[in-house]
Amino acid sequence: MTLDTLILGARAVTPAGAALCNIGIRGGRITWLGEDVPEAAEVIAATGLIAMPGGIDSHVHISQPSGPGIEMADDFASATRAAVAGGNTTVLPFCLPEGGQSLREAVAAYHARADGNCMCDVSFHLIVKDTDPVTLGQDLPALIAAGHTSFKVFMTYQGLALTDREILEVMSVAKAHGALVMVHAENEDAIEFLRDRADREGEGAPVWHARTRPVPVEREATHRAITLAEIADVPLTIVHVSNGESLEEIRRGRARGAKVFAETCPQYITLTADDLDRAGFEGAKFVCSPPPRDRENWADIWAGIEQGTFELFSSDHCPFRFADTAGKDAPGARASFRNIPNGIPGVETRLPILFSEGVMKGRISLERFAAITSTNHARLYGLATKGAIMVGKDADITLWDPSLTKPIRQTGLHHGSDYTPWEGFEVTGWPVRTLLRGQTVMLGGEPAGPPAGRHLERTAPETLL
Ligand code: URP
Ligand code: ZN
Ligand code: ZN
Repeated sequence: MTLDTLILGARAVTPAGAALCNIGIRGGRITWLGEDVPEAAEVIAATGLIAMPGGIDSHVHISQPSGPGIEMADDFASATRAAVAGGNTTVLPFCLPEGGQSLREAVAAYHARADGNCMCDVSFHLIVKDTDPVTLGQDLPALIAAGHTSFKVFMTYQGLALTDREILEVMSVAKAHGALVMVHAENEDAIEFLRDRADREGEGAPVWHARTRPVPVEREATHRAITLAEIADVPLTIVHVSNGESLEEIRRGRARGAKVFAETCPQYITLTADDLDRAGFEGAKFVCSPPPRDRENWADIWAGIEQGTFELFSSDHCPFRFADTAGKDAPGARASFRNIPNGIPGVETRLPILFSEGVMKGRISLERFAAITSTNHARLYGLATKGAIMVGKDADITLWDPSLTKPIRQTGLHHGSDYTPWEGFEVTGWPVRTLLRGQTVMLGGEPAGPPAGRHLERTAPETLL
C-alpha cells in the first residue's frame, strides 16, 4: 500500500542502532523501515541528515501558578511552539493546584489551558502538595487510573515542601496504584537557615541564591529521598541532579538495590554559579533550583551521562521574563534573591545543546542521545507509542543537520521569555524538521501548521533498571 510519507536517505537512529535507513509513514505511524524506496505520496529528501526519535521533554513548567503578581512567560501555545522548534514532539508539564484547588480541579484547569493550543503532544505530571485523605485516598488514585502515572513531591519551597512522613504517605499511594514518584531533593530547613544568615549579613544579590543552596543541601536530600523510597519500597526519579556528590548517592542507592532513576539538565553542564554573580541584576537570569555549580561538577555530570548513570536529560523549562515585574524583576527581587522567581527557559535549547556538546564533541553516541532525550522518557513515564523510530510507533521524528553551526540567540527563539541563559552559545548540529505523527510541525527552525498536539493518557511506568 502506498505510504503517506517516505523519509529518504537519512541516517536513522533506531533501537537497532544508527544506520542509513528510509522511513515509511502511514496514518501517523511508522509502518516501514528499510533500504528500498517504496511508493509514497510525499518524499522528504533527507540525505546528510540524521533522523532521531522526536524529543520528549519530561520536565517542563508551563502556565504554572507562581505566586501573587508573578506570571510564567509561556502559555501552552508559546511553550509548545518553542518545543517543536527545538526538535521535541512531546512535553510533560507539571500540574500544580492553585490556592484551594483539588488535584482533580487543577487537572481540569490545565486541560482548559492546553487543549487545542499545543503544537506537540502533552501529558501532565501531577504535583502533590496536599496530603489530606481526599487527595491521597481519592483524587490521586483516580488520576493515576486516568493516565497521570507520575507525580512530583518537593523537599524544598515554602508551601510545597513535604515532611518525610508526608513523602512516605505519597510514596505508599504510588506503590498501591502503580505510579512513579519524582523528587525535588533539597533540604528546606538547611536552605532557610542559610538564607536567614544571608539576610542578617545584608547579602541580597542573585549569587546568594546559589550560596544558600550549596551541594550538601542537595546531597543530603538526595540520600534521604532514596532512603524513604527504600522504606516505602517504590522506584523514584531524582529530578534535576546538579552535582557529583548527589550522583554518588544515587550510585550508592542503586548498589543497595534501590530503584532510583536520575535526571539532569543542560544548566548543569554549561552554566556555573559565577553566572549568578554577573554585574548588576544580570545574575537573576540564571536563578534556578538547584543552582548551576562549577566546572568540576560539570565533569561529574558528564561522566554520569557518558556512563549511563542518567536515564533522563530534560530541560526543567521554567520561564520568566527578565525585564518584567511579573518575572525576574519582581517586587523586592533587586533587594533580595529570595524574591527572584526560580527557573530558566530551556525547552527550545535542551536538544541542540546536548547534540552539540555531547554528540558533536564525541562524548556520547547518537544512540545514547536518543535514549536520554526520548526513548527513556517514553519508557519511564508510560508513553507506549512514543520514543523510538520503530515500526508501530507514532511517526514522531526530528531531522538533524549535523553541519549547521550557529550561536543560540534570543532573537531566533520562540519561547515567551525575553532572554535565554545561553545567549551567544555556539552550537553545531540543529534540528531542521520535526514531524508529529507524520505531520511537519517545524521546518527550517520555524514552527509550521496548526496546533496538532494531543493530550496523552499514560500507562504504568516501565522499570528501566
Ligand atoms: O528553579 C526551578 N527549577 N524552578 C522550577 C521548579 C522546579 O523545582 O523544578
Ligand atoms: Zn524541582
Ligand atoms: Zn522543574
